[in-house]
Amino acid sequence: MRLQGKVAIVTGGGHGIGVAYCKGLAQEGAKVAVAEIDRQACERVAQELNEAGHEALAVPTDVADEASTLNMAKAVLDRWGRIDVLINNAAIFSTIPMSRVGIESIPPDEWDRMMLVNLKGPFYCCRAVLPAMRQQQSGSIINISSGTAIYGAPTRIHYVTSKAGIIGFTRCLAREVGKDNIRVNAIAPGSTLSEENPSEEIIRFRQERIGARALPRLEYPSDLVGAAVFLASDESGFISGQTLVVDGGAVMV
Ligand SMILES: NC(=O)c1ccc[n+]([C@@H]2O[C@H](COP(=O)([O-])OP(=O)(O)OC[C@H]3O[C@@H](n4cnc5c(N)ncnc54)[C@H](O)[C@@H]3O)[C@@H](O)[C@H]2O)c1
Repeated sequence: MRLQGKVAIVTGGGHGIGVAYCKGLAQEGAKVAVAEIDRQACERVAQELNEAGHEALAVPTDVADEASTLNMAKAVLDRWGRIDVLINNAAIFSTIPMSRVGIESIPPDEWDRMMLVNLKGPFYCCRAVLPAMRQQQSGSIINISSGTAIYGAPTRIHYVTSKAGIIGFTRCLAREVGKDNIRVNAIAPGSTLSEENPSEEIIRFRQERIGARALPRLEYPSDLVGAAVFLASDESGFISGQTLVVDGGAVMV
């Protein structure tokens, strides 16, 4: 119960790895707000957690809409009175898919949407929770980057650029808010089989990274939970501005 008494928000908590973060944090004793654009998935995950004996709140949220992120923070404060952890996990990636093509074929509108959700989303969400964290004089923000930003995956340059931006965002914010005892770190997952009903093609695509890994197997959402719990907990109380790569040792920094 390393997160007993803590209140956490997981954006994009309705699908994929976000569900694993919600369950993992709840199992460690956190109260979890599922902040997700897909209202049904949002309510389903919160209901599953409550039925399992945890404390969860469904907060349908569009991270790309500032008013919606302010509502998110308000709903959590109204319910639990504090915000200890924010995981900025929502992104255009798989559930809301992106083009996995070369630079010339990326639709410019899709580039803009990518930056809006994947970068401005965390910007809005951090601004929404920071007043509470500053008042508490504590907090842990965990931004989800990607190993692709470090090794420079070919195709999907808009996505990879957004995830590289997350690393700079993390470092800058860590220095801005550290004096208020707020920590800001990033997790860079490797290629993870996060799809709920993966096709053979998706499984083959995820298997392609196995050969690059020191630990040669598929990566699953559960592989990322330990890092998230650690960075959310007081065990990482003197760690800030870092990017923790969780990919079985493909990218080594
Ligand atoms: N799966 C991988 O291989 C992998 C690798 C590296 C990084 N990541 C990152 O991990 C995170 C989770 O990835 P995933 O594989 O679970 O993908 P996913 O697409 O299943 O999850 C993203 C979630 O964000 C939600 N979302 C999208 N736009 C939103 C918005 N505007 N507001 C609120 N919620 C929104 C989606 O509905 C979905 O629930 C993402 O940030 C992704 O970039 C994933």
